[in-house]
Amino acid sequence: MKITYYGHASLGIEVGGKHIIVDPFITGNPQAAGIDINTLEADYILLTHAHGDHVLDVETIAKRTNAVIVSNAEIATYYEQREFKAHPMNHGGSWNFDFGKVKYVNAIHSSSFPDGSYGGNPGGFVIESEHKNIYIAGDTALTMDMKLIPLRTKLDLAILPIGNNFTMDVEDAIIASDFVECDKILGYHFDTFGYIKIDHEESIRKFFDKGKDLMLLEIGASIEL
Ligand code: NI
Ligand code: MN
Repeated sequence: MKITYYGHASLGIEVGGKHIIVDPFITGNPQAAGIDINTLEADYILLTHAHGDHVLDVETIAKRTNAVIVSNAEIATYYEQREFKAHPMNHGGSWNFDFGKVKYVNAIHSSSFPDGSYGGNPGGFVIESEHKNIYIAGDTALTMDMKLIPLRTKLDLAILPIGNNFTMDVEDAIIASDFVECDKILGYHFDTFGYIKIDHEESIRKFFDKGKDLMLLEIGASIEL
């Protein structure tokens, strides 16, 4: 499983011979100017919620790639009505896709589309594939529901928001990593806007002091699990 960071909360995942894009917000992020969305491959686009900083580039990428949009029922319906292919899910449910198993899990946040349309309730994803399991938290507060995840899944990586203001801060993300029982963390949802600027060194040290490994990738950089 290869995970590429496209800035903010945008990820590329290559797994099981398929390409997945998560929450594409690239053309609106000056820090991601080096990423050309017209070159990104996508069989699936996973969306945690409907906010503009998670769905901005969905239609452009889906039009070109014919990718299947996977999200909650309301977001899936929104895109189906615009003639895109979508797979609706809801909280607690999972589905075996051709690349692996995806579960839509709870997040504490909000989820309206930029045009005001209802975007259902926000979530995160647990992906089990190629004997590697990851948790993509989405935008969320720290929540006790995270404790449910390790009851079913032993995680190899937790992708957690750490930018504060709209989501967890570093301290809450450290507790979240305890809740999901995973000490390997990829941080996201930081630095993009003034509200969520973080001190990288200090954040990495705070995780390190608790025996945890926080990775902060350069935009365009990848990790292999
Ligand atoms: Ni959001
Ligand atoms: Mn966001």
